[in-house]
Amino acid sequence: MIRTVVHSSAARAARAAANLLAEALRAKPDLVLGLPTGQTTVPFYRALVDLHAAGRLDLRRATTFNLDELVGLAPSDRRSYRAFMERHLFSRVNLRPSHTHVLNGAARDWRAEAARFERELARAGGLDVAIVGVGVNGHVAFNEPARSLHVGTHRARLHPATRRANAALFGGRWRDVPEYALTMGMGAVLGAREIVLLATGREKAAIVRHALDGRITTAVPASLLQAHPRVVAVLDRAAASKLR
Ligand code: GLP
Repeated sequence: MIRTVVHSSAARAARAAANLLAEALRAKPDLVLGLPTGQTTVPFYRALVDLHAAGRLDLRRATTFNLDELVGLAPSDRRSYRAFMERHLFSRVNLRPSHTHVLNGAARDWRAEAARFERELARAGGLDVAIVGVGVNGHVAFNEPARSLHVGTHRARLHPATRRANAALFGGRWRDVPEYALTMGMGAVLGAREIVLLATGREKAAIVRHALDGRITTAVPASLLQAHPRVVAVLDRAAASKLR
């Protein structure tokens, strides 16, 4: 059973998730974090920045690994997840730049890039806390629904639904969203000592229900989280509206 906390609004859910993280950092200042991108995370990162400004969040000794990155975009491209992270978090808190890890979507050899990322993650000792979102189709990071899932970092082909969900970064044109992404596999996510699943909004209600209450299946990668001993789902009322 995944522990579930429901808040009255998306902003409150984001603040609650940020508070959980601040607490974990106080207990372990050199925390290794897995970080997601996406619309859901915008208020979450805003809440972290606010906590930092209030002197209640210190990331000086923390290390971060982003879950995924779009293929073909250089880190300097403003549509890349690296740029998203710089905008929403990295430039606004006291994380050391050398402690932030985002896969390079423009790497010429994606296998070498994935191997490099895996080595760095292993050297850091794996993730202490993975903050994850869920795609409307049940993906976690870019582990898309499939008959089988990858353990390690790999290149994933994005489903049209996922490209549509990412269209905001591309002026609303989903066909401009890259067809491939580099992503952590389920191994790194499920290997995290703690997982915080953040989901908000009515469009996530059905998939949240399957992920939390349904059978475990690779057709809904987020359902695999049920097999992990320490997951908390932080939801707003809309995302929780279909839960039993
Ligand atoms: C994106 C990311 C995921 C994220 C999910 C939800 O494409 N790769 O890590 O959790 O899809 O995104 P959103 O918050 O925009 O709904």
